[in-house]
Amino acid sequence: MFTDLVLASAHHVLVFMLAAIIAAEALIVWSELSEAAVRLLSRIDAYYGATAALVLLVGSGRILFGLKGWEAYVYNWAFWLKIAAFVAVGLLSISPTLQFRKWRVSVDKDAFTVSTQEITKVRGLILAQIGVFTLIPVLAATMARYGY
Ligand code: HEM
Repeated sequence: MFTDLVLASAHHVLVFMLAAIIAAEALIVWSELSEAAVRLLSRIDAYYGATAALVLLVGSGRILFGLKGWEAYVYNWAFWLKIAAFVAVGLLSISPTLQFRKWRVSVDKDAFTVSTQEITKVRGLILAQIGVFTLIPVLAATMARYGY
């Protein structure tokens, strides 16, 4: 019971951190991109990767050591939809990460420029991440109650 409580608490805290990180990235790319903003963006994006990895780790811990047992999830369609949504958010974040790195390198070389095309693409992909991310808690609530 205690292990389940620790894992569930960690899972919730990490998931809220991830939501805050995506919101922070959105806020930055929707404002004027200065060199300082690019440095902040690249730091926040590193936290994004680390937090997503921890969500995966703790989520897997809940499957293996949680109260319900792994069988409650591997045969649960809502669980697999949730994982698919999680993977989709990850895939949608690849291109923005590469763009943030490119911007960061140009800032470090004192040659920072940003095109309208780049910013439009990054904004679209961040919006798409927010859209898919929103489905995850719904699928999580579904998998905890139905789906098997
Ligand atoms: C951004 C990603 C994620 C979000 C927003 C999220 C959200 C949630 C929420 C809100 C719950 C509570 C559901 C409820 O009791 O009503 C939950 C439970 C759970 N999540 Fe996640 N989760 C995420 C990623 C993951 C991943 C990657 C895994 C597995 C690898 C995972 C495994 C679990 C498990 C096992 C539970 C327990 C469900 C139960 O009580 O039966 N989650 N998640």
